[in-house]
Amino acid sequence: MSDNSGDITKLWGGRFTESTDEFVERFTESVSFDYRLYPYDIEGSIAHARMLQKAGILSQTDAREIIEGLEGIRSDIERGTFDWQVALEDVHMNIEAALTKRIGDTGKKLHTGRSRNDQVATDIRLFVRHEIDRTAAIISELQAALLDLAEREAETVMPGFTHLQTAQPVSFGHHLLAWFEMLDRDYQRLMDCRKRVNLSPLGAAALAGTTFPIDRHYTSDLLGFSAPTANSLDSVSDRDFAIELAAAASIVMTHLSRFSEELVLWISAQFDFIQLPDRFCTGSSIMPQKRNPDVPELVRGKSGRVTGHLMALLSLMKSQPLAYNKDNQEDKEPLFDLLDTVRDCLSAYLSMIPAIECNRDNMRKAAMKGYATATDLADYLVKKGVPFRDAHEIVGQAVASAIQQKKDLCELSLEELKGFCSEIGEEVFECLTLEGSLNARDHFGGTAPKQVLRAINTARDQLAQR
Ligand code: ARG
Repeated sequence: MSDNSGDITKLWGGRFTESTDEFVERFTESVSFDYRLYPYDIEGSIAHARMLQKAGILSQTDAREIIEGLEGIRSDIERGTFDWQVALEDVHMNIEAALTKRIGDTGKKLHTGRSRNDQVATDIRLFVRHEIDRTAAIISELQAALLDLAEREAETVMPGFTHLQTAQPVSFGHHLLAWFEMLDRDYQRLMDCRKRVNLSPLGAAALAGTTFPIDRHYTSDLLGFSAPTANSLDSVSDRDFAIELAAAASIVMTHLSRFSEELVLWISAQFDFIQLPDRFCTGSSIMPQKRNPDVPELVRGKSGRVTGHLMALLSLMKSQPLAYNKDNQEDKEPLFDLLDTVRDCLSAYLSMIPAIECNRDNMRKAAMKGYATATDLADYLVKKGVPFRDAHEIVGQAVASAIQQKKDLCELSLEELKGFCSEIGEEVFECLTLEGSLNARDHFGGTAPKQVLRAINTARDQLAQR
């Protein structure tokens, strides 16, 4: 990026009597980060030029020269030969100045009937729409990867937790499907946000519209928007869509941070439920034995960063009077960073999930440890006619006795069990096994492996319809 402010004529310089202060130039520029809007800026300008020609505001020759010039600039940028100038402030004025340099005075006609205010609003919406589609595609892929793993592990028993204490046995596949559901809502949220992103502010001009006979529906169609925005003041000042996106992204990151926390726990020697290949881990510079789950830890950490960007965008918009204010230039860095971060984290998960190896024996042993089938015993007693509260009490006593003897419930003899409740019969042992416990939860949304496989099939059908 060049910084030779002395030689550059500002596109808005007409009324100014002295040149911009050097600090102010650096302070107010945005091209150092908004340059990445260039594909959308060019696409928007081409649509604008086409519309000006259709409306008879630009001649056919002028429009053709402008469009060819813009296309030439696009290939210069892609080839890395474009000379970005900090003194030209932002992506919009860099491209417009380059156009005039390239095709002469005709370039100066492009900005007829528009302002940078509707231009930037259009660029960001096009950019955000594209990024939503990329992010949603990775979410779908990740969901499919989770379904594959869930299918492989549908019969794997692990302890399910509440309060991080062993609660009831669950299928590992079922646990993974809980992650699938979270991502499904994330996908839906992005798609919902996309509807409000996909509206065209172009033609709102500075704030009040323009005196030229423009056709906003035409530019909206050319750019693939669903409709033009309805109010010119709102069009240039609205950044709700960015806030909504940041909120949706923050929820994605909150979910990924929860997955990460579980992976970190499961990888630890204390749990030892799963293994993650070396490529997702790093060592310690002092402790030779260490193998740290850096990737999930970093994803967990980056969730704070994205939530921070949501707060930045909310605070940025708070109390802004209508219509456009320069404050809005501050929307880009948080927006860019949050989108990059979410995509990187989702991609990290996309490569990690299929690489997860389960230590099924350890999961099983852990499920055996915490009296995970106590509820099953209580339910068994209820089915024998014992009121649930009494059953709860009886099983509590059985658990206390088993703890004392350092045994699992299924290791108590029938006589011992009968001692707690005479209704107990031989068949009780079926519900005290882990498989018995799982299979008994055989209803929609339950953890029985049969239900897990059914849920996977339904989910696959849903993904196929996207
Ligand atoms: N770089 C500016 C932004 O990002 C473009 C719009 C500037 N408009 C203005 N009237 N100064 O918001």
